[in-house]
Amino acid sequence: MTANKRIVLSSDHAAIELRQTIANHIAALGWEAVDIGPTTPESTHYPKHGAAAAQRVASGDCQLGIILCGTGQGIMMAANKVKGIRCGVCTDTFSARMIRQHNDANMLSIGVRVVGEGVALDIVDAFLNAQFEGDRHALRVDMITEMED
Ligand code: RB5
Repeated sequence: MTANKRIVLSSDHAAIELRQTIANHIAALGWEAVDIGPTTPESTHYPKHGAAAAQRVASGDCQLGIILCGTGQGIMMAANKVKGIRCGVCTDTFSARMIRQHNDANMLSIGVRVVGEGVALDIVDAFLNAQFEGDRHALRVDMITEMED
């Protein structure tokens, strides 16, 4: 993982406002928020936004990614099609911490129609404050990576 303190953010039309709130939140925490939109509320298609954010992480341009849609599920599925991406949907802080500690997740997905703003920001904090534990978990993450080839 490239430790450049840059986090890419994207969403579909459903989650623009929460995405921008999260971008401001992480910027206040000292991260560089790379918000790649969209910025206008027309209906759009979550796969292209998930893939675009995932490419920024996979290329090393951004250290981590945060993506959102109505449920968080569709955009997560798209992001996980990009080689090198491990993205989980979180609706609670325990999962947000564990996907970093055990799964070395490099992207977080949130559903704007599932959690409110306060919970979403706590999820983001839990994700960003956790560290991958390596050891036996590294072996398992490597097993996931091997499936990509
Ligand atoms: C858009 O209405 C909705 O389908 C999308 O935001 C997301 O929930 C898909 O997984």
